[in-house]
Amino acid sequence: MQTFEQFFDSAWYILGDRLKEFEKEYAAFNKVASCIGVSNGLDALHIALKALGIGIGDEVIVPSNTYIATLLAVSYVGATPILVEPDIQTYNIDPKKIEAAITAKTKAIMPVHLYGQACRMDTIMAIAKKHGLFVIEDNAQAQGAAYKEKITGSWGHINGTSFYPGKNLGALGDAGAVTTNDEALAKKITALRNYGSEKKYYNEVIGFNMRLDECQAAFLSVKLKHLQEWTQQRKQIAAWYNEALKEINDLILPTVTNDATHVYHLYVIRTSRRDELQKYLQENGISTLIHYPVPPHLQKAYNHLGFKKGDFPIAEEIADTCLSLPLWIGMKLIDVEFVAETIHKYFKN
Ligand SMILES: Cc1ncc(COP(=O)(O)O)c(C=O)c1O
Repeated sequence: MQTFEQFFDSAWYILGDRLKEFEKEYAAFNKVASCIGVSNGLDALHIALKALGIGIGDEVIVPSNTYIATLLAVSYVGATPILVEPDIQTYNIDPKKIEAAITAKTKAIMPVHLYGQACRMDTIMAIAKKHGLFVIEDNAQAQGAAYKEKITGSWGHINGTSFYPGKNLGALGDAGAVTTNDEALAKKITALRNYGSEKKYYNEVIGFNMRLDECQAAFLSVKLKHLQEWTQQRKQIAAWYNEALKEINDLILPTVTNDATHVYHLYVIRTSRRDELQKYLQENGISTLIHYPVPPHLQKAYNHLGFKKGDFPIAEEIADTCLSLPLWIGMKLIDVEFVAETIHKYFKN
C-alpha cells in the first residue's frame, strides 16, 4: 500500500526512478552488468533478437517443446525458428542435438530453462562459440536457477525474462526484462524499447514502445526481496512431492541433473494416463495444468513450416504425458499430501 501511494503521489508513471531502481536491483540479483525493464517476456526476447541484428533469412535454434512465445519472438524479426528436441529427462534442449541443426544461416541459439531447471549452459555456450553464434537465454521460467553455480540469465549474450503474474517473480500485470553484460547492447536495447530514442524526440532507429512502467517496477522491487525465500519454498514443496510420489511406478517425477538447479516454476510429472488422472484430480477438487498440450510444430500458427505429427517425437511425448501439479507460495505439507494421496488413490483403482 505504501509502495502504491509513493508511486501514485510521484505522478511519474513511465521511465522514472522506480524503474531505474528495479533495474539496478534485478541486475545485481541476476549478476549481470545491465537489466533493461521491458513490457513483457515476449517483448524481451523480440527486442533481444532485434538488438543483435537478427532478421529475414536468418535461423534461430529453439527447443521443440517450448512455450510458443520463444518461437513468436523469432518470427517477429522475420527469422525462422529451427526446432531441436529436448532431453527426455530434463525437458531442456538437448545440447547433443544442436550442432546437427546449425546451417550457414544460423545466427543464434535460444535455450529455454523450462519449468525452472537450468539448461546445460556451458556446453551450449561452447557450441555457440565454436560456430560464432549468439546465445539468448529464455529465462522466463527460471529466475534464480543456476548451472554450475552461474545464474541463468547471465550466461547468454542477451537474455530475456518474464514477470508475468504467475512467474516466480511476478508483477501485477505484464512485465519483463532483458539482461546482458554487454554495455553496447544494453544501450541499444534501452533506445529500442523507447521508440529508438536516446534523447527525447530524436530517433536514431525504428524502435518500439516496450517500456516497463513505474507501477510494475515499484511492485517488482518489493517482491524481488522475497524471491530467494519463495524459491526455497518452491524447492521444499517439490521435495515433499518427490517423497510422497516416489513409489508410484506409473509416474515419472522431475529429474534434476548434477550441475543444474531447479527453481520449480512448475512441478511437472508425466504418465501415459495423464488425461484420466487430470480428470480424476479435477473431480476431487484439484486443478492441474498442462504445459503444454500442443508442441509448437503442431500449432496452426506454424503450419507454414510444414511439420507433421511424428516430426518431433520427444516434444510430442512430453505434450501427451505431462501434468503440472498445484504449487503455490504458502502451500503446506498437508496440501501436498492431499494431492499425493489423491494420485495414489487413482493409481490403486
Ligand atoms: C518460456 C517462456 N518464454 C516466454 C514467455 C513470454 O512471457 P510473457 O508472457 O511475459 O510475454 C513465457 C511466459 O509466458 C514463457 O513461459
